[in-house]
Amino acid sequence: MRVTSGRVVPRVSSTRCTLAVRDAERTTTVTEPDQMHRISAEIRTTVDDVLEYARRRALYEDIPLDKAETPTELARLASGSITAEGIGSQRAISLFEDVLAPACISTDHPGYLSFIPSAPSKAALAFDLVVSASAIYGGSWMEGAGAVFAENEVLHWLASEFGLPSEAGGVFVQGGTIGNLSALVTARDAARRRRREAGRPDPSRWIVVCSAEAHSSIVSAAEVMDVDVVAAAPDADGRLHGDAVAARLDEHADAVFAVVATGGTTNFGIVDDIASIAAVTTERGVWLHVDGAYGLAAMLVPGMRATFAGVGAADSVIVDPHKWLFAPFDACALIYREPALALRAHTQKAEYLDTLTESPDWNPSDLAVQLTRRSRGLPLWFSLATHGTDQYRAAIAHSIDLAREIADEISARDGLSLVREPQLSVVVFRREGWALADYQAWSDRLLDEQRAFVVPSSHAGEPVLRFAIISPLTTFDLLAGILDSLAS
Ligand SMILES: Cc1ncc(COP(=O)(O)O)c(C=O)c1O
Repeated sequence: MRVTSGRVVPRVSSTRCTLAVRDAERTTTVTEPDQMHRISAEIRTTVDDVLEYARRRALYEDIPLDKAETPTELARLASGSITAEGIGSQRAISLFEDVLAPACISTDHPGYLSFIPSAPSKAALAFDLVVSASAIYGGSWMEGAGAVFAENEVLHWLASEFGLPSEAGGVFVQGGTIGNLSALVTARDAARRRRREAGRPDPSRWIVVCSAEAHSSIVSAAEVMDVDVVAAAPDADGRLHGDAVAARLDEHADAVFAVVATGGTTNFGIVDDIASIAAVTTERGVWLHVDGAYGLAAMLVPGMRATFAGVGAADSVIVDPHKWLFAPFDACALIYREPALALRAHTQKAEYLDTLTESPDWNPSDLAVQLTRRSRGLPLWFSLATHGTDQYRAAIAHSIDLAREIADEISARDGLSLVREPQLSVVVFRREGWALADYQAWSDRLLDEQRAFVVPSSHAGEPVLRFAIISPLTTFDLLAGILDSLAS
């Protein structure tokens, strides 16, 4: 069993030299081509060992935080594992458990508060193993109907929670970046087709309008698509409103193929004024995409619904289950108001695929930038089916409540001040008198002591600290203890 602090002494001998010697000792000769696939005593042991390790890790009561090693140190401890004859599963698992895993920060540690943490439910992460074991192809109904059906159950539930019509549908893709890209590709395709039908040429440059606070993946998608991004100015609180969007649409006329509203910015958790933006896009006939990769999960909490008013008018939305819906990496739910538009934009055509694409079946591959796909929505389906939606609402509400409590605590402490009141579960604050180097040294110390992972962020050029709270295991006492360490 691994421990929660301090480094674990590798059980696997840790030098390239020793691995090589052991390799030479292995008597395995190259045998039958089906040796890796046939059920033998050796394969049974391998599967049992892997499942036993996964079981131990999934049930850690005290999750180790861990931290990265240098490339030199990892080369010293762990190189030499790829050999002609293999090192055997027990040594490979030991190498992973004792050397490689401790060199990966546990994003599900309750003190992991940087970027956007992950906190998969135990049911979801256990079921991820079932998805792998079942060898399901999740791209087509013909091959994966049962899995596709279950994923669609989740997508339809999410769509109805977001106020989208019953015909809305979508697909689980790898993450918010691919979800945003796929939605924008669909939006441009729809705009292009409308123009062609009207006998009008494309604009010299297509434009997507979003807030200056929008996630970097929107710029990335625009680069991939070779379109321009026009930023609309948010208000002093960082929220984008319809009037700023309308001004941009006035300037760029109908070169704009989509407007992106953010349902929870990454740095602050700010939700744009989606209702006023939707009023503008509806009136002008422009595609509205809501990037709710991090924050849209909060709409499942009844008291937060009003914050997200207008989402139901979106043409496409995303929310990442690997963020605040307690699924393991990696999964983004991408939902379209009219899935037929996505099919037209994304379906790949090839002779060998005709049998799939010429059928009226629901083929998830055809709704995004992808072909082969893992049924990555199944872990969320299993956990939702197991625990029920109320449990999800309660777990999300915990983070929102905790963010407010710790924000009050920060405001009450000398030497600390909030940069903004939290809207969701991200709390940004400053420690008076500290420069970036002070924040960084403190952050390094916190990780070295295996207490928490809190990296500095910045706002308007000022270094700041940021708690992103996702895990229901994160407590007020843990956060208050971190604040205490800022006093020294
Ligand atoms: C608002 C927002 N959009 C998009 C993304 C990108 O998501 P992913 O990292 O899953 O690609 C993130 C990631 O943090 C995000 O917070």
